[in-house]
Amino acid sequence: MTSAASGSVATEDGKFAREKFSSRNVFVFAAIGSAVGLGNIWRFPYVAFENGGGAFLVPYVVALLTAGIPLLFFDYSIGHRFRASAPLAFRRLNRKLEPIGWFQVLVSVIIAVYYAAIIGWAAWYAYFSLDQRFGSSLEETTSFFTGDFLQMSEESFSFDFVGNITVMIAIVWIGTIIVLALGVQKGIGRLNQFFIPLLIILFVIMVIFALVQDGAMDGLNQFFTPDWSVLTNYQVWIAAYGQIFFSLSVGFGIMITYSSYLNRKTNLTSSGLVVAFSNSAFEVLAGIGVFAGIGFLVHAGGMAWDDVQGGVGLAFFTFPALIASMPAGEVFGFLFFACLVLAGFTSMISIVEVVIAAVRDKLNINRVNGTLLVCVPLAIISLLLMPTAT
Ligand code: PFF
Repeated sequence: MTSAASGSVATEDGKFAREKFSSRNVFVFAAIGSAVGLGNIWRFPYVAFENGGGAFLVPYVVALLTAGIPLLFFDYSIGHRFRASAPLAFRRLNRKLEPIGWFQVLVSVIIAVYYAAIIGWAAWYAYFSLDQRFGSSLEETTSFFTGDFLQMSEESFSFDFVGNITVMIAIVWIGTIIVLALGVQKGIGRLNQFFIPLLIILFVIMVIFALVQDGAMDGLNQFFTPDWSVLTNYQVWIAAYGQIFFSLSVGFGIMITYSSYLNRKTNLTSSGLVVAFSNSAFEVLAGIGVFAGIGFLVHAGGMAWDDVQGGVGLAFFTFPALIASMPAGEVFGFLFFACLVLAGFTSMISIVEVVIAAVRDKLNINRVNGTLLVCVPLAIISLLLMPTAT
């Protein structure tokens, strides 16, 4: 690759040549890396459970086919055709549309700030899984998280602990800066080519681990047993569309940005279908793993079905409790949190790249300067908001 194409040196006209993924497969890995994130692991299982279990798959598939895949193709074709970041691509489509792209950049900024914190927390919890210092009952794990770990209720923070979280979030940002400063192929492409297969392997091991526990089948029954009456409830349909948007990362400018780094001749249809179906397969697999695990905890008397939570509660209250009661829970816990870190980090990279690409297109600056200009302020905001960022 010439240095111009790596985004570091300007060509004769003073512009930077657009960077490229080395092949379509690398792009597909990067797109899957963006789509598969916290939303698949901690959001989908809970949303599906709350909205009719097995019956939720009907609105989910309808949302995928009528909104997810069409919008994915829309994003791809805009990025591929106009070969630009979201604001510039929309501007090239129609001058008046540029603000849509900037709105997407703004949303990406907000997501990046809290994603970094969650990845940092998950990294600590991978480590805590080894000695299970978070306790074993749900009360203990909950108060460990809000009290000992985040120190949210304390008047004065004890900085040794909160200091550790700060260090971890700083590490997440340094990792992000290194990957993004390396550029599209050497940074984003290589990271995803390595992390996505690793994530799949670790995740499958984790799911098998959960499935062999007592109570796992009760969990799957709870998860899949359909409540068909939900199909007439419009809120369930809204939940399905919301899940698809977030999960496929469509409408955030990410797929526009990534597809702008493709060769002109690339076949986008098959890539889009591979990305969409891989994402959904991962989501259903996560539902199976998470509910097998919860089934085990209910069976062991650690919680009731009414207490099932999603999001932060699922990862940082429920999972620690089940890690503490499961045989070889250290291994299971480490795998679970390592998967959160891998899945979260590859999504985080994609969101921050939306911002960097937009700023570079606007200011015509090189890759390293663009990365620092965007990441340093965002890292500072993440670190300042951190103790209360839940
Ligand atoms: N698609 C990612 C997930 O399912 O976790 C989350 C995500 C990443 C959403 C980036 C939005 C976004 F801009």
